[in-house]
Amino acid sequence: MSIRVVFLGSPGAGKGTQAQLLAAQYGVPQLATGDILRRNVREGTPLGLEAKRFMDAGDLVPDDVIIAMVERELTDAQGFIVDGFPRTIAQAEAFDALLARLGTPLTAVLLFEVPRDQLIERLTGRWTCPKDQSSYHVAFNPPRTPGRCDICGTELIQRSDDTLETVSRRMAVYDEQTAPLIEYYRSRGNLIPVHADRPVSDVTAEILTALSGRAGSKA
Ligand code: AP5
Repeated sequence: MSIRVVFLGSPGAGKGTQAQLLAAQYGVPQLATGDILRRNVREGTPLGLEAKRFMDAGDLVPDDVIIAMVERELTDAQGFIVDGFPRTIAQAEAFDALLARLGTPLTAVLLFEVPRDQLIERLTGRWTCPKDQSSYHVAFNPPRTPGRCDICGTELIQRSDDTLETVSRRMAVYDEQTAPLIEYYRSRGNLIPVHADRPVSDVTAEILTALSGRAGSKA
C-alpha cells in the first residue's frame, strides 16, 4: 500500500516512535531529518560539523542545508514517512515543489497532539539506540532489557539536546517556526490530528485507521 506522509508535531510528541513502527508496517522508508543529521555529526562530515552547533543550541539548521539534504535522501518518492521535516514554511514550500516535480503528492500530514507538560517528561526520560535510532522511555516505553535496544542489543544513550534547558528552547522554536505549518497544511486539506497523548499502541491504531481511507489515494 503506497503512502506519502509527513509526521508533524512538537519535539517529543512520538513522531520517531510511530514512524519506525509504521514504516515497517507499510513497507516504506522512514526519512527522519534529525536522525540523518545526528548520523552526520557522529561521522564528522562537513554537514554534521555545520549542523552540530544549531542542534546543540536547540535551534533549526538553516533551510537551504536541510532542503538540499532531503532532496538527496528522498530516494523513493512513491512511498515514505517523513519525520521532522518540513519545519518551516520555506521547507514546506520547497517540499511541495519537489513533490510536484516528481508527480507524487502527499497522502496526508499527521499532527501529533500532546500536552506540553507530558512532552517535557517524555524528552527528559528518553533513551535512544545510536545504531538503529529506536526510541525508549524509562517509564512509558522501557526496553525489555534495561539499557539495551530491543532490536539490536546496542547500549542506549541519552541525546545531548534532551536537557531541560535545550528542550525549552526546542519548544519555543517549534512554536515560532514550525507551528505555522499547522495552518499551512490545514488550508490545503491535508491535516489529520492524532491524539498522541495515549499509549504507543493506541496511537499506532489511530494512525492506521486514519490512513486506511487515504492510502493509495491522492490528497
Ligand atoms: P529531531 O531529531 O527531529 O527532534 P524533534 O523534532 O525535536 O523530535 P524528537 O526526536 O525529540 O521527538 P519525537 O516526536 O520523534 O519523539 P519520540 O518518538 O522520540 O531534531 C533534532 C534537531 O535536529 C532539531 O532541534 C534541529 O536542530 C535539527 N533538525 C532536524 N530536522 C530539521 C529540519 N527539518 N530543519 C531544521 N533543523 C532540523 O518520543 C519521545 C519520547 O517519548 C521517547 O522516550 C518515547 O519512548 C516516548 N514516547 C513516544 N510515544 C509515546 C507515547 N505514546 N506515550 C508515552 N511515551 C511515548
